[in-house]
Amino acid sequence: MDKNERVKKNEWFEDWFNSEYYHLLYQNRSQNEADLFIKNIVQKLKLDPEATVLDLGCGKGRHALKMSSFFNSVHGLDLSKNNIKIANSTKKDNMKFFIGDMRNFNHNTKYDYVFNLFTSFGYFNTIEENLDVLKCVHQQLKKNGHLLVDFLNPDVIRNDKFSSEEKRINDVHFNIEKCISGNFILKKIKIKDGNKQFHFNEKVQLFDLNDFEEMLLKTGYTIHSTFGNYELENYHTNSERLILWAQKLI
Ligand SMILES: C[S@@+](CC[C@H](N)C(=O)[O-])C[C@H]1O[C@@H](n2cnc3c(N)ncnc32)[C@H](O)[C@@H]1O
Repeated sequence: MDKNERVKKNEWFEDWFNSEYYHLLYQNRSQNEADLFIKNIVQKLKLDPEATVLDLGCGKGRHALKMSSFFNSVHGLDLSKNNIKIANSTKKDNMKFFIGDMRNFNHNTKYDYVFNLFTSFGYFNTIEENLDVLKCVHQQLKKNGHLLVDFLNPDVIRNDKFSSEEKRINDVHFNIEKCISGNFILKKIKIKDGNKQFHFNEKVQLFDLNDFEEMLLKTGYTIHSTFGNYELENYHTNSERLILWAQKLI
C-alpha cells in the first residue's frame, strides 16, 4: 500500500484528534503543563537555543508555543487540519506549522531536536509504520541530532486492565470504556451532546522500554536517558510516563 493511501481510509486517529470533543475531554492537558515540561526539558538537557526544532504530532501547538521562546526556529507537524488551524492562530514569527503524516514527511529542513509529545506514537496497525516514523525523523535530523519521545508507561496501563468512566464536561456527556486487547490499549468513547451522538475510538500500542530500544536501534538511534514524568525524574515501572531521549547515530 502506498504510504499516502493509508490516511485516506479515515483511520481512528484522523477522526478523533480532529474533533472538538478530543480537546474537551483532555482539557486538563493544558498550556501550563506544556510550559513546565518544555522548561524542564530545555534546562535539564541543556538544549541549544540556536536550534531548529520540530514538534511531531503537535496538536494545537501548546508545546511548540513554549519552544518558540527558547529556540531559534520551531516547526510543528500534525495530521489534523483543525489542530493546525488553531496552532496557526497563535503562531509567533519563528514558528511554522504543517499538515502532514509523521510516517511520510519532508520539510526540506534538518532539525537539531525532534519532540514527539504526550503519546503521539504507537497508533498504527503495523510495526513497519511505526518504524517509518522513526526512519522519517532520522532523515530529517541533523548529524548527531536528538529525538525525545514522551509515551505512556505501558506497565501502569496494563495494571488497570478494564475500566468504564462517565464524565460530564460543559453539558457534554462522555462514556469511556477502556480495555487491553493483545498489545494495545483500546478506548471506546461515546459522546452525547444535546440530541447529537458520536462514537470515537482510541488505540495505542503498548510499547515498553525494550520495544523502544529495539525499534530505535533498528532505525539508527541510541538511547541516552529515560525519564518517568514531566519533572524528568527517573523512569521506573510505576512512573507516570516513559520518556526517552535518543540520539541519531552517524
Ligand atoms: C495525543 S495528541 C497530542 C497532541 C500534542 N502533542 C499535545 O500534547 O497537545 C496526538 C496528536 O498526533 C496527531 N497525529 C495522529 N496521527 C498522526 C500522523 N499519522 N501524522 C501526524 N500527526 C498525527 C493527532 O492529530 C494529534 O494532534
